[in-house]
Amino acid sequence: MKEIPASQAYRLLEPGPIVLVTTSQNGKPNVMTMGFHMMIQHAPPLIGCVIGPWDHSYQTLRNTGECVIAVPGLDLGETVVDVGNCSGDRMDKFQRFGLKTRPAKDVSAPLINDCLANIECRIVDTTLTDPYNLFVLEATRVWINEDRKERRMMHHRGDGTFTVDGGTLDLKDRMVKWRHLP
Ligand SMILES: Cc1cc2nc3c(=O)[nH]c(=O)nc-3n(C[C@H](O)[C@H](O)[C@H](O)COP(=O)(O)O)c2cc1C
Repeated sequence: MKEIPASQAYRLLEPGPIVLVTTSQNGKPNVMTMGFHMMIQHAPPLIGCVIGPWDHSYQTLRNTGECVIAVPGLDLGETVVDVGNCSGDRMDKFQRFGLKTRPAKDVSAPLINDCLANIECRIVDTTLTDPYNLFVLEATRVWINEDRKERRMMHHRGDGTFTVDGGTLDLKDRMVKWRHLP
């Protein structure tokens, strides 16, 4: 086996979909790209997100305690990378990239129409934010866009390359121990 730097472990373990995170403060919405996230708990549904202080979104998330995690499809690939290569402190990224939004129900951050799904979230724990930039969020509402044809998600491999969803392997019948899960 060939050894690679330990600093690249994340490239193997970061297969969740690349997502967009919206926030809004003083009526000004913003959006960033995020690859570092994980599910933590089923009920209530908790999600861990790493959002660094170098992001404008970090401060708006800390100040408001709210965000939306939007899951883009393959058709938004280039936009997803571009959104993550500029900052909302100097521009309106929704306008710049033609992303259409609609109001969320529980949070001030907007939903993104063009995405496959939108998850409204509230911060429930910031204990690990100072040491690791890790926010623990509770998902309060999930919206699925059933109209979209392109449903393939993208998974960031860490260096600007992505794995794209392919076929589905259905092993539901073997999940005998976990039938109670929603
Ligand atoms: C593919 C990709 C993945 C990224 N993942 C993260 C991440 O997990 N956490 C993070 O803090 N920034 C991440 N970024 C960087 C932010 O999206 C970037 O700093 C962005 O400009 C922040 O926007 P803002 O300043 O408007 O908040 C990623 C960028 C790209 C292109």
